[in-house]
Amino acid sequence: MTRWGIIGTGKIAHTFAEALRGTENSVLAAVASRSLEKAEVLAAEFGFEKAYGSYEELAADEAVDIVYIATPMSEHYANSLLCLNAGRNVLCEKSIALNTSQAEEMVALAEEKGLFFMEAMWMKFRPTFLKVKQWIDEGRIGKVEFIKADFNNFIPYDKNDRLFKSECGGGALLDLGVYPLTFATALMGEPKEIITHAHIGRDGVDLSHEITLTYEDGAFAATTSGFEVQNRNNAVVSGDKGSITMGDWFFCSSECTLYDLDSQPVEERVFPPEINGYEYEIREAERCLANGLKESPLCPHSDTLQVMRLMDRCREIWGMKFPQEK
Ligand SMILES: NC(=O)c1ccc[n+]([C@@H]2O[C@H](COP(=O)([O-])OP(=O)(O)OC[C@H]3O[C@@H](n4cnc5c(N)ncnc54)[C@H](OP(=O)(O)O)[C@@H]3O)[C@@H](O)[C@H]2O)c1
Repeated sequence: MTRWGIIGTGKIAHTFAEALRGTENSVLAAVASRSLEKAEVLAAEFGFEKAYGSYEELAADEAVDIVYIATPMSEHYANSLLCLNAGRNVLCEKSIALNTSQAEEMVALAEEKGLFFMEAMWMKFRPTFLKVKQWIDEGRIGKVEFIKADFNNFIPYDKNDRLFKSECGGGALLDLGVYPLTFATALMGEPKEIITHAHIGRDGVDLSHEITLTYEDGAFAATTSGFEVQNRNNAVVSGDKGSITMGDWFFCSSECTLYDLDSQPVEERVFPPEINGYEYEIREAERCLANGLKESPLCPHSDTLQVMRLMDRCREIWGMKFPQEK
């Protein structure tokens, strides 16, 4: 059994706790908040053994095997260092950090301490994504020429929401854009060049952006993300022998379809989640811990750092810096 701790009591902490509760080898050991009251509420709702009123107390708890960090981007660096320095393994929410320099330091500390460390990029562990990757690796669509992936989620402006606050690592890029970029690079590798535009809002973070990754062999990937419009957020991977679509909200879609060059479906697969879709990353982290792995082959540090470098480059092109970087 793996004993889990959670830092933070926001939206995703609830969703993750629900998945933990239903996963066969997980123990809900402890939850920590900056307010003991909030930690106690979450602990009572999901049945955590302990509730702490500070993140430091949870990090120091020797009875916790791994800590899931569910705080805003701006806190991931400090929260991860706290847990790793205390000897805890870490599963940290996306985007892993504000920038590459922070992420490299986090990875280096995990390696130095001999601890497991992984970005909670849940898409990569879902059966739908794994099936799409398998089809591509088997050459079912030939050489990948073009990827189109979008994640646009309309969110009304609220200056108090972490998404619009520069000091929280806000903006569409680190919150939404990380998914299409992870998708494209997982299937096509490191691009040669980035062409990108963004709409930067009044608070200095991107409200919407489009990014094109270009590759040496003429292939490219085009992505859009933002808070200003709503669309169906599907993804298409096109090759010289066929294409693949992932259903709406591609990164968490349960459906994928393989088409031939006449656009006729060849294979359709549906993978409904067993709990809420987070069970796959939980099981992968537990499998790694049980086997003494310090990183997951499905989501290695090198992939996380590659995407982080691309996001740094986008922000450099846009002239967007977080206050922590000024
Ligand atoms: N994988 C996914 O599907 C998914 C979905 C949504 C979000 N996420 C990621 O999960 C992380 C948290 O997102 P969320 O939507 O759960 O955020 P949220 O609802 O705002 O919750 C964040 C929590 O972090 C804690 N926190 C610590 N420092 C904070 C600060 N300076 N400002 C605000 N909160 C702070 C708070 O918990 P306490 O007050 O209890 O300490 C808060 O409840 C982000 O990195 C996001 O990208 C992932």
